[in-house]
Amino acid sequence: MSETSLNLTINGESVHIKDISPTMTLLEYLRFSGRVGTKEGCGDGDCGACTVAIVGSGADGKPHYLAMNSCLIPLASVAGREIITVEGVANGELHPVQAAMVKTLGSQCGYCTPGFIMSMFAGYYDGKVDEPSLEGNLCRCTGYLSIRRAAEMVTEVVATDEFATRLEQIDLDLPPLDYVGNDQHFYRPTQLKEVLDLLQQHPEATLVAGATDLGLELTHRRQHFPVLISLEAVTELKRIEQTPEAVVIGAAVPLSHIETNLHGVFPSMDEMVHWFAARQVRNRATLGGNIGTASPIGDLPPVLLSLDAELTIASAAGTRTLPLVDFFKGYRQTDLKPGEVIVSVTIPKAISPGAVRRLSQSYKIGKRGTDDISIVAAAFTIDLDETDQIIHARLAYGGVAAIPARAIGVEAALMGQPWNRETVQQVKPALKEAFTPLTDFRGSADYRKLLVANLFEKFFVEFSNSPAEPLEVTR
Ligand code: FES
Ligand code: FES
Repeated sequence: MSETSLNLTINGESVHIKDISPTMTLLEYLRFSGRVGTKEGCGDGDCGACTVAIVGSGADGKPHYLAMNSCLIPLASVAGREIITVEGVANGELHPVQAAMVKTLGSQCGYCTPGFIMSMFAGYYDGKVDEPSLEGNLCRCTGYLSIRRAAEMVTEVVATDEFATRLEQIDLDLPPLDYVGNDQHFYRPTQLKEVLDLLQQHPEATLVAGATDLGLELTHRRQHFPVLISLEAVTELKRIEQTPEAVVIGAAVPLSHIETNLHGVFPSMDEMVHWFAARQVRNRATLGGNIGTASPIGDLPPVLLSLDAELTIASAAGTRTLPLVDFFKGYRQTDLKPGEVIVSVTIPKAISPGAVRRLSQSYKIGKRGTDDISIVAAAFTIDLDETDQIIHARLAYGGVAAIPARAIGVEAALMGQPWNRETVQQVKPALKEAFTPLTDFRGSADYRKLLVANLFEKFFVEFSNSPAEPLEVTR
């Protein structure tokens, strides 16, 4: 029997919500229920005005206050969770992060301020209100200097107040959920087998994890989802395992966990995760989601393609593995069959037999440095033997085709060639013509083609042994 009420905790108060659509966003609910301190700016995860702190697992597996964008979170996703909004941080007197903002005059019109406060609040209980804590918050009027001064005043404080005490008491296990409201079903199973059973019963269901992509469907396109199956609490999908041969990342692992727990393992992954949206989004977005949505401008697929990642896919009939390169079939189309779910991503660690070193890096070009969608993303992996000959090449791109794609012809042309400037110059014309990208408001097709070729040259310049010579600019 499905439940018709959702239970959550907001600012220490138990809240029971009945007969409300599970896809109403948390932001809509907060404002609808009179908690209007949380603001709506963009409604798509870009500005941070809607930031709240939600208790969840940090990369260390312990409870943390995690800054998240409430505009992208379906309400049912936070059933059983504790949420702190800007109304809940003061306790008789201003919270230290509020007091710091007052002292440094960090607020002018005030529209962004609740979001900044909540990002600072989350950082405060992690002992660091650093730049990454605030990278997902935009202010259009005060200027960032006074806000940064406020952050500096409260960073590296060891918090011992009631919020810190509360964290120690929290049980992170999310209970299973079977909720129906407004003719929409929201399931949150905790075991993979339950997911597969549900998919048999509801072949039309939509899978959701962090909902940072689905949240846009809710806020901008007002899409209706009759049945949603959340993967957020599924134990088998939340593991990161490392062996000497490979890293296996569960499909529902948030990117912020990858950022911390796999730091230094794959340099190209480190680089791209850093530029992947803001802290609030990385706390929710998952690796499986970034692959499963099959967006041609997803940031991580090029990295994974360049590292020869492989997917493990489960269904009621069993489990299969599939190289990621065979997963993307067309614009937003994948090889996933009805009843199947991505369980994990395996990334081999070993370099090619006969290779003595691996060069690997990724690049993202967007209109803004951080918190933006890529115009072109690229990731390269080159293995060299002891004579510096190329014996393995992977050149992968996003934003240049209907799917994330490798320049397979150019990879083949590089095999056996010396890793030097001449080789790179020889393949650049073919690389420029390897894809037929579109022109859109982010960049023209010609600009994207140039990026495809010139980013590879940039990679060479960064990873060549020879001192950099003046570069001929290619147009
Ligand atoms: Fe802008 Fe949510 S309203 S990030
Ligand atoms: Fe006005 Fe930041 S104080 S937008």
